[in-house]
Amino acid sequence: MSTGTPDILSAEFAADPYGAYAVLREEAPLLWHEGMQSYIVSRYEDVERVFKDQVFTTANYDWQLEPVHGKTILQLSGREHSVRRALVAPAFRGSELEQKFLPVIESNARELIDGFRGRGTADLVEEFATRFPIGVIVDMLGLDKADHARFQKWYTSIIAFLGNLSQDPDVTASGLRTKEEFAEYMIPIVRARRENPGDDLLSTLVTAEIDGETMSDEDVKAFCSLLLAAGGETTDKAIGSLFALLLQHPEQLQAVRDDRTLIPQAFAETLRFAPPVHMIMRQPAEDVEIGGGTVPAGSTLTALIGAANRDERRYKNPDAFDIFRDDLNAKNAFSAAADHMAFALGRHFCVGALLAKSEIEVGVNQLLDALPNLRLADGHTPAEKGVFTRGQAALPVVFDA
Ligand code: HEM
Repeated sequence: MSTGTPDILSAEFAADPYGAYAVLREEAPLLWHEGMQSYIVSRYEDVERVFKDQVFTTANYDWQLEPVHGKTILQLSGREHSVRRALVAPAFRGSELEQKFLPVIESNARELIDGFRGRGTADLVEEFATRFPIGVIVDMLGLDKADHARFQKWYTSIIAFLGNLSQDPDVTASGLRTKEEFAEYMIPIVRARRENPGDDLLSTLVTAEIDGETMSDEDVKAFCSLLLAAGGETTDKAIGSLFALLLQHPEQLQAVRDDRTLIPQAFAETLRFAPPVHMIMRQPAEDVEIGGGTVPAGSTLTALIGAANRDERRYKNPDAFDIFRDDLNAKNAFSAAADHMAFALGRHFCVGALLAKSEIEVGVNQLLDALPNLRLADGHTPAEKGVFTRGQAALPVVFDA
């Protein structure tokens, strides 16, 4: 690493990665990071290629996630991946999503908002964002919401394991413990559901069959673990960032309040400007030329989503939050044709993108209805936290009760 290149593992970087991203894009579009033992790319065109070109395999998840989840679709490729993905994808789109899960999304949002709508103050992160998506997934799976604290502890520990860039041994140990605890909790439930299926997503998973392929108890447990982590932490961060950004741009908040059809584009611009997941790794199957250099086969390559989404080569005035920008297509933003990188692209494009969109639409609508004259609490300046995943740690607000 050349001197003067911002170090991803430094406190300065954690405080403000965006300035460092600009330097990386300009001066070190391909960087070897000794501490992370990884190559890094930051330009839009390179990150896009890493997600789309299958020479960049997901074998990195063998060590980055398998020890805490077991094997999941993130690690699969080719036909094996498409069959497995086809087993689960229908639950996350179209009529299944609308008829079965929209009511669950609506009731989860309402229940949480009922807890503070009469009070005039709330912390939108602590009291809403960290609870809402996980409540939705737990209800979808037909698990017990009374166990919310345990689910949240588990997914936080899994995400910390995934983003353990400095290989902190405590983080590793906590992740491995989570795998044991989650298996102990989940496997008996999976078995019982197989015996006695109901109308929930877990029953769909245990009975699903495509081309004679089904999921074992272990597969189902691993997938549930992935759902809690991939769908909990990310949507949680997205809601906090969306409100923080709108509250800091009151004219855009007013526009969304007046015209709710703007919610998807406000969400899309939030995903571009402040993506919940700032980086994703890959492992090239062969030597690859990218970013002006060569990445050897089998090495780890980190694609900086947060940097690609602010690339001046792709977006005009990229450091401005503007839900009306004309170089981000909100219609495609939740499909694999998306022109931001927050859900990745290609084969592993986020299977929960439309679910996340529904959650945001319902959550934002209900919050705006319930909280008139919403503003930041006196003295609070929103601040992002995190390097691998990133979002608001707290968002205290006031409103007319
Ligand atoms: C704003 C919210 C979300 C963001 C930013 C997000 C981000 C991502 C990203 C970046 C990936 C690609 C990982 C890779 O290529 O290595 C991904 C994949 C995935 N996401 Fe999401 N996600 C979100 C919401 C959700 C939700 C709500 C669910 C489900 C409950 C979900 C489930 C998944 C699954 C299962 C995959 C793996 C897909 C595959 O390997 O084919 N995500 N997500």
